[in-house]
Amino acid sequence: MTTTLSLPTKIYIYSLPLLALALWGVLFAQLPLQNLGLSLSFQALFFLLLTIGAGLSPVRLPREGVITVAFALDFAGLLIFGPTVAAAVAAASVPFVLRRTPFFKVFWNIGQVLLSVLAAGYAYQWAGGEFLFRQSDLSFAPVDFSRCLLGLILGGVVYVLVNTFAVAGAISISTGRSLFGIWTLSFRWMAGRFLAVAPFGVLMAIVFQIQPETLKVAALALFFVPLLLARWAFKGSMEMLEVYNQTIQALSNALEAYDPYTRNHSERVTRLTELIARQLHLPETKVEALMAAARLHDMGKCRYDWEPIIRKPDRPTDEEWKVIRSHPADGAQIAAEIEIALLPRIAQIVRAHHERIDGKGYPDGLKGEEIDLAARILCVADAFEAITSKRSYQTVRSFEEALGELRRCAGSQFDPRVVDALAEALASNGKELEIEAETLPVEA
Ligand SMILES: [Fe+2]
Repeated sequence: MTTTLSLPTKIYIYSLPLLALALWGVLFAQLPLQNLGLSLSFQALFFLLLTIGAGLSPVRLPREGVITVAFALDFAGLLIFGPTVAAAVAAASVPFVLRRTPFFKVFWNIGQVLLSVLAAGYAYQWAGGEFLFRQSDLSFAPVDFSRCLLGLILGGVVYVLVNTFAVAGAISISTGRSLFGIWTLSFRWMAGRFLAVAPFGVLMAIVFQIQPETLKVAALALFFVPLLLARWAFKGSMEMLEVYNQTIQALSNALEAYDPYTRNHSERVTRLTELIARQLHLPETKVEALMAAARLHDMGKCRYDWEPIIRKPDRPTDEEWKVIRSHPADGAQIAAEIEIALLPRIAQIVRAHHERIDGKGYPDGLKGEEIDLAARILCVADAFEAITSKRSYQTVRSFEEALGELRRCAGSQFDPRVVDALAEALASNGKELEIEAETLPVEA
């Protein structure tokens, strides 16, 4: 989320916490507060300290947002204190965890956590789950959690769904991207990991039933060790993803450093592929894979004999054409070596970026639908960028001229649907790209 917020984003991020606070207030007023003893208050305070501890040093996600293992604590708090008190504990930890954070973000997170805990609590209760502190009279009673299994699963799932969809909603409103697309890319794959720490929460609630009090505190404190280990492992996988994205960027930078005429070419092609893909409503994971492929698409040009061929004034010889035509396959080989499960088919997209709809392209001579849609998009973006960029030997052509050229070759070289999508995308984003084209000397 950026700090410059549009009006709909502002309305969303302020109304969600206000709604959550109002809901919590109504539920809190219904608690039998005359039964709120000192012991419960101290236990809630102790739990607040644990939640703050678990929430410190959050793990950064690859695209947007952060995550902490506080979920286990929120879940434990829920099973112990019931939704209303647990939601208050979780919300009270937010300002401590999000220090030096703009007010609206703290406010937003308070609302998000209140809603998540309340929703999870009532889902758990609805499915037959019980809390250690009964909401009806705030008295303590042991619970056999093995009999609340359905509730535990439902509560955990509801917590994760409410929590992640609330954040995905904010990103969707502020960026205009599809809600499910954002959720699928940034949250679906980690929902399982999120839920994996839920058993810690259940175990903590079981341990909380231990008497006497001193042993209970010691046992709970001990739980911090595996919880911190889980956080460490999760942080490791997130950092790996970050490193992956940086590797792609570094490879792309290396290519551009090797050949200054391609400077910013990959970056602009990447931006164009994203515009076309979004215009065609491609799923978010495909958009991401396509963008990674766009950054890498010319990696195959990283070879010692490339520059003399490209620089020479006459037409390339047959032998030299072979070298030129081998760059998609060479690039695909490099891409295949760094491909990961989260962003599949990057190598395939790189390999097919010079295929033509009429089957006269290279390296495989694929036709029409045989060519991956992502590769057809990359092909159009690559050509458009080459035509509109400043080159050492040609004058810059306008967007209209370039589109005219692409339209002329639509159906033979390019997919007409992709060319149309580019035209539509440029109609709404063209100005921004035109400025870039004027300031950046580039070549295909
Ligand atoms: Fe290429």
